[in-house]
Amino acid sequence: MSQSVYREIGGLEAVESVVDDFYDRVLSDDRLVGYFEGMEMESLRAHQVQFISSVAGGPVEYSGADMREAHAHLDIDEEAFDTVGTYLEQALRDNGVADDNVEAIMAQVVELKDPVIGR
Ligand code: HEM
Repeated sequence: MSQSVYREIGGLEAVESVVDDFYDRVLSDDRLVGYFEGMEMESLRAHQVQFISSVAGGPVEYSGADMREAHAHLDIDEEAFDTVGTYLEQALRDNGVADDNVEAIMAQVVELKDPVIGR
């Protein structure tokens, strides 16, 4: 993706707000919170900021694990994936990201379903 989406949505500061909002939603959901128990949330948050920034075309290098490897031990099902995807989409919209940019980002996130659920 060109850098324009990252720039248009407001760069690093905007992505940080989206990611904070995203994890607030995820961790408030009883169906999801168990997956994150005992996880190093600060490092996860930092990697998620890098990941979403690079998905949006930002000049940021993602330094975390490969998506399949990062989620392999978690036994995530399709419903959990879809719920997490919905929270990401809501977090993008509620932080003022325009529809076409939300769609461009979510189109790439949907592509991660198989690796994340280990299919
Ligand atoms: C929607 C697409 C998703 C994206 C873009 C995503 C992104 C990421 C990223 C970037 C990391 C960091 C890996 C690292 O630090 O090396 C991670 C880890 C993690 N993700 Fe996801 N994730 C997604 C879906 C999910 C879902 C559906 C769940 C659970 C329901 C989940 C639970 C976790 C957990 C628990 C970790 C920490 C693993 C660990 O530290 O051992 N993720 N994810």
